[in-house]
Amino acid sequence: DNPDQGMDQDGMNEMMDHGEVPSLASSEGVNELVIPPLLEKQKGKNYDYEVTAQEGITEFFEGISTETYGYNGDLLGPTLKIEEGESVNVKITNDLNEPTTFHWHGLEVASKIDGGPSDEIQPGESRIITLEADQPAATLWYHPHVHEMTAEQVFRGLSGMLIIDNSINSDLEIPNEYGVNDIPLIFQDRLFDEDKQLDYDNLMNVDGTLGDVSMVNGTINPKMTVTEPIMRFRLLNGSNARNYTFRLSNGDNFTQIASDGSLLDEPVDRKELTLAASERAEILIDFSKLTEEESLSIINEEGVVLLPFDVKDTDSTAGSIKTWTTDEPFLTDEEKEMPVTKNIELFGMMDMVSINGKKFDADRIDLRQEQGVTEVWEIYNKPDMMGGMVHPFHIHGTQFKVISRDGEEVEESEQGFKDSVAVEPGERVKLLVTFPEKGVYVFHCHILEHEDNGMMGQIEVY
Ligand code: C2O
Ligand code: CU
Ligand code: CU
Repeated sequence: DNPDQGMDQDGMNEMMDHGEVPSLASSEGVNELVIPPLLEKQKGKNYDYEVTAQEGITEFFEGISTETYGYNGDLLGPTLKIEEGESVNVKITNDLNEPTTFHWHGLEVASKIDGGPSDEIQPGESRIITLEADQPAATLWYHPHVHEMTAEQVFRGLSGMLIIDNSINSDLEIPNEYGVNDIPLIFQDRLFDEDKQLDYDNLMNVDGTLGDVSMVNGTINPKMTVTEPIMRFRLLNGSNARNYTFRLSNGDNFTQIASDGSLLDEPVDRKELTLAASERAEILIDFSKLTEEESLSIINEEGVVLLPFDVKDTDSTAGSIKTWTTDEPFLTDEEKEMPVTKNIELFGMMDMVSINGKKFDADRIDLRQEQGVTEVWEIYNKPDMMGGMVHPFHIHGTQFKVISRDGEEVEESEQGFKDSVAVEPGERVKLLVTFPEKGVYVFHCHILEHEDNGMMGQIEVY
C-alpha cells in the first residue's frame, strides 16, 4: 500500500529469499477431479450466455468452510465454448461487494469489451457484451483485471476457461468430447491461513503469491478416472506466480499440439513442458500402452504428483495420435528479418517492478501502433543484483508469434500463436505483434502481484 517506503530489514530479508519457492505437496489422489461444466446457452433471452462474479463457500478441507469467489458458482467458473467465427452475446454481472472486470485473456476483442483495468463493473452492475471468435481455435481463459485487485480476486477463485472450437470443420481427429476425452486442467497453487481461509492480505507476497497446496480445477488431492485411450488435456497455468514444469511420472513423452493461441505447426513429442503464469498448452497423452498394473500421473519437475490417473478399460486397439504438418513455415524469412521497432524493458522485483522504468498510469499512453500493421517488439528482462526472475510478458488484444530468444530460433513448441511469453533474466525475446482492432490495450507481467504493483503499460492502437 505504500510504494515509497524504504527498504527495511524485512525487505532485505525478503530480497535475500528471492527465488525460494515453497514446494507443493503431492496429490494423495483421493478426490475425483472436478471438471468445470460447459456454460449453457440461454434460451429466450437477449443474450446467449450469462457470467456472474460472486462470493461463495468451498469445502477444500473436510468440515471446513472456506470463503471463495467464483463465476456462476462458489469457485472458478464454467467453461465458455465458442465456435471459430461465432459471435455471442454475454451478460456479465458483478455480484461481489467490490468492483471487478471480465477480461477474456487471449481473445482479440475491441478494447472496450476487453475487460482491462479501465473497464470496471461496479457491485450490482450488469452489461451485455458481444464476443467474437475471429481467430484460430485455441484454449483461452477469463479472469478479473481490476487494477491493484487482480491478484487477490484470482487468488480467491475467479478464473474460467474459454475455448475457441473448430472441431466441426477440422479433419485432424483431435479428441474433442468435452469432459470425456477433452479435459481442461487449471493448475493453481494456494496458501491457506491457520483457519484454512484465503486471507489474501496476510498471505500475499509482493513478488507473487506462492502456495504449498496444489489444486487442479479447484480440486485438492485430485485423481482422474480415464476411460479413453487418447486424451487431450488443455493445461492452463492459472497460478498467481508459480512456474510449472509438467512431466509424466513414467518418464514417457507426451505430445504437445497447441500453444496459447493456436495449434502448433506440427505436434511435438516432449518429455517436459514449462508454463509460466497465464500460459497454456494442449497435450495428448496415449494411455493405450499402459499395462493394468502401471500407474501414470502428471508430475511437476521435482517429482511432485499433480494429477494421478486411474486408467479404466481403455480400448488399447483404438486409434493413435494423428500428426500433421502445415505447408507454410510458421515464420517467413521476411518476418524473421524485420527490424525491432518497440523495446520493452522489464525490471525489478517486489513492489519496485517497472516496464521501461515506469509504473502503470491509466492516464498515460506508453506506446502506439497502427491497427493491422505488424511490428517487432523486443522484450528484455534486465537482471537485478539478485539475478532477477522470470517474467511472463502478456499483451492484450493480440496473438503474436515468438521470433527468437537471444537471437536463436524458437523451438517447435513455440511455433504457434501466443499471448504470453516467459522471459528469463537477461534474455531478449523478439515478438511479431499485430493488433486486429483499435483501442487502448494493456501489456504487463502476468505475475499478478507484479501487475498489481504497476508492471504494466498501455498501447494505443490507431
Ligand atoms: Cu490474463 Cu491482462 O491478463
Ligand atoms: Cu489478458
Ligand atoms: Cu514479473
